[in-house]
Amino acid sequence: MEDLTAGGFLGGRGFYGKDGRGGIFSWVFSTDHKRIGLLYLGSVLSLFSLGVTIGFLMRLELITRGPTVMGPQTYNSLFTLHGVVMLFLFLIPAILFIAIFRYGPMFGLQLAFKTYNMKQGIFGSPWIGFDHFQRLFSYYRFGEIFLNTVILAVYKLAAAFPFLQRQNFISRVIGTLYGASP
Ligand code: HEM
Repeated sequence: MEDLTAGGFLGGRGFYGKDGRGGIFSWVFSTDHKRIGLLYLGSVLSLFSLGVTIGFLMRLELITRGPTVMGPQTYNSLFTLHGVVMLFLFLIPAILFIAIFRYGPMFGLQLAFKTYNMKQGIFGSPWIGFDHFQRLFSYYRFGEIFLNTVILAVYKLAAAFPFLQRQNFISRVIGTLYGASP
């Protein structure tokens, strides 16, 4: 079945589509930020498990005085390995993961400088520079509209503020991954 939404939105390169390639290559060489994000997530979780395992081995060694499960040289090696794995293979890629998942979709903002054509999608539609802005700013009621928008935004902030509440765990996880909550 043709996925019109994803097909139009991603210019035919749908999330579940094959990206022109099949099997493992559709993942390894993917240019889809969602796939890249998931690859990061998989790597980061695996390497975090490795770091935690090494950390537990270190704590295990320290349970009794003297060598418990390994010698001093091995302990020192694991100590350094744990630090390197946690900081360079877990923490930094984890930050990149968030950047790709949350900021990748923002490339859709380029629509502000394009004339949108559903068939060509966001990336395929032709560029038109500042045309939209020029039209908006030179509209004779622009000042009024702009002021109204600001006033409404302030009203909204003031009215919604007392009702802000903590989202449940699932919503927050989905919000972090997809940049929106259900
Ligand atoms: C279950 C989780 C963890 C365990 C059991 C654990 C255990 C340990 C232990 C026993 C040490 C040696 C401390 C010492 O003797 O002074 C250590 C060091 C260290 N840990 Fe963890 N850790 C855990 C999670 C993490 C996480 C999440 C990070 C960072 C994201 C991290 C980063 C480090 C670093 C940078 C060092 C110092 C390594 C060095 O100086 O070479 N650890 N950890």
